[in-house]
Amino acid sequence: ALMLILVAIIGYLLGTIAAGLLISRMMGLGDLRKIGSGNIGATNVLRTGNKGAAALTLVFDALKGVVAVLVGRMLAGESGAQIGALFAVLGHCWPVWLGFKGGKGVATFLGVWLALAWPVGLACCATWAVVAALRRISSLAALAAAASSTLWAMLFGYSGTVVLALALTGLIFWRHSANIARLRAGTEPRIGQR
Ligand code: G3P
Repeated sequence: ALMLILVAIIGYLLGTIAAGLLISRMMGLGDLRKIGSGNIGATNVLRTGNKGAAALTLVFDALKGVVAVLVGRMLAGESGAQIGALFAVLGHCWPVWLGFKGGKGVATFLGVWLALAWPVGLACCATWAVVAALRRISSLAALAAAASSTLWAMLFGYSGTVVLALALTGLIFWRHSANIARLRAGTEPRIGQR
């Protein structure tokens, strides 16, 4: 149990590293929280017009999820991996350093699945990509990827991760409540649009 608590703390702290904020600040792109949706994720970094910075943000935010899972697995096996995954996403969404005002967890969610159960991770990435290609809306792609994760977990034989998949899906939907309202109103911007 002590190991799991340690894994939770490490996972949370990794999750709190706000790559989007750090990268956009270092590259002189301004304060993300005053741009577009105000979110600190790759989608909003793209609204600065800098594709490289957005790609870097996506990769970094995913990588911290990967690392949290690998550390968890190393210290406490598969339950450690799952705790690391959950807390990395929690840390990204509610970072203590930013007054608990963090991101929406999508990149980190993709990263944790790639490390936790790579077929599920790949299927979630593919779901994101297909919806993004068809509709050009990042939040819609993210919601589809999250909603499909439980299905992929069952389909690919990772039934031990279903509870985690449902929890992460719930978190991501919750964090996208403003996006969902805009989607319903038909006012959600397309990828790259302000
Ligand atoms: O990853 C967050 C994305 O799904 C939506 O971002 O900036 O459009 O709210 P944003």
